[in-house]
Amino acid sequence: MERLIINGGKRLDGSVELQGSKNSVLPILAAAAATGTVSVLHNCPGLSDVDAAMKILRHIGCKTERQGHTVIIDSSCAYGSEIPDSLMREMRSSIIFLGALLARFGKASVTAPGGCEIGLRPIDLHLSALRQMGTDISETGGFLNCNCPNGLSGRHITLSFPSVGATENIMLASMGAKGETVITNAAREPEIVDLAEFLIKSGMKISGAGQSVMRISGNGRFHSAEHTVIPDRIVASTLMAGAACAGGKICIRKAEKEHLAPVIPVFETAGCRFSFGSDEITVEACGRPKRVRYLRTMPYPGFPTDSQALFMAVAATADGTSVISEKIFENRFRHVPELIKMGADIRVEDCCVAVVEGVKALHGAKVSACDLRGGSALAVAALGAQGKTVVENIFHIDRGCENFENVFAYLGADIKRAQRAGE
Ligand code: EPZ
Repeated sequence: MERLIINGGKRLDGSVELQGSKNSVLPILAAAAATGTVSVLHNCPGLSDVDAAMKILRHIGCKTERQGHTVIIDSSCAYGSEIPDSLMREMRSSIIFLGALLARFGKASVTAPGGCEIGLRPIDLHLSALRQMGTDISETGGFLNCNCPNGLSGRHITLSFPSVGATENIMLASMGAKGETVITNAAREPEIVDLAEFLIKSGMKISGAGQSVMRISGNGRFHSAEHTVIPDRIVASTLMAGAACAGGKICIRKAEKEHLAPVIPVFETAGCRFSFGSDEITVEACGRPKRVRYLRTMPYPGFPTDSQALFMAVAATADGTSVISEKIFENRFRHVPELIKMGADIRVEDCCVAVVEGVKALHGAKVSACDLRGGSALAVAALGAQGKTVVENIFHIDRGCENFENVFAYLGADIKRAQRAGE
């Protein structure tokens, strides 16, 4: 298994282009399966999750082609509505294909994704919404066998929680529904808006994307669309955390300031300084970070749960006590014991509140990535730590960060990827 070897203490300076958003391109790839046309997607990051989604598309009969960061999907010949367990398991969020398959074929057979590193990841909101839209779903032996005997119908669906995935699955199922669908308490993340923009380009009518009430309708006919995926706001926060941990000045090109509105003030409180160009954000940090008294993760436009671990890496060496409350996922502190191996002083209470007593500096250690964002946080913490850190299981990081070590090495970090000794 590959690992990262990092010798900390090197400032980060330079300008990098931000990758496209993993959490935006995945539902858009699912939508491309439902249009039955040719979709041209630009700014698609080279990630293992994207590769897994493309495998699913090919498995159901789509033609796919990648030219650098452009991906072309021709779903005119798609025929399969079954996704085998092996493919479903390769990517945590493959449940997003369910709505698209129902829209295209009126039936689908997928395995329930099950839990993952950060929590149980239930899909009750997805299934309840799809049932309301006319889907019969039988859950047997971990398989979801779905049928729409009378087709899909638009409905007024109220979500008890603004679930990103459930909102996306309803939007995708609406591609094949008769009549208008209204989602109340819809997720408002930028990735929802990006999916809506792709669907509108493909022929859907959508209003209220990015707001709590979204209206979606279509006539079941789609045309080819070309779309540029939004930049990845979580990778942007990863770069900001790198600057805050190691010190330095990073210009993040092609970043959307608006998407980072929940994050920038927190990094400013921690002592980072920002300047903004038309489509770039420059973050500068020097000296020890300042503590953030209380930080809680919330649905957008709150502080994103995906940036929680990254900010904890910063708080670990801040000049005081920071309290971080994880309100979205029930098991998203798996990076804590690993940070403690590096000398952090963190106490977790009630599974979802971390009290972080900042220490002067972290020291190198052998640590293990347990999930994508926690693994990224360990690597970012190592950039500022004294000595050598080895981060194992970096396949987690490769799911969502393109060329992690090359980006940070370009900025001045002493970081390289290596095979585990003896392999
Ligand atoms: C998406 O996951 C993202 N993944 C996650 O990013 C992100 O953390 C999350 O949204 C929140 O922003 C992708 O977009 C591929 P949710 P998703 O449905 O859709 C509960 C990363 O690191 N819930 O908004 O699974 C759920 O248990 C990943 O890039 C139900 O109870 O998130 C959780 O507590 C990690 N029932 C909360 O809602 C349901 O049916 C938020 O989940 C669905 C969700």
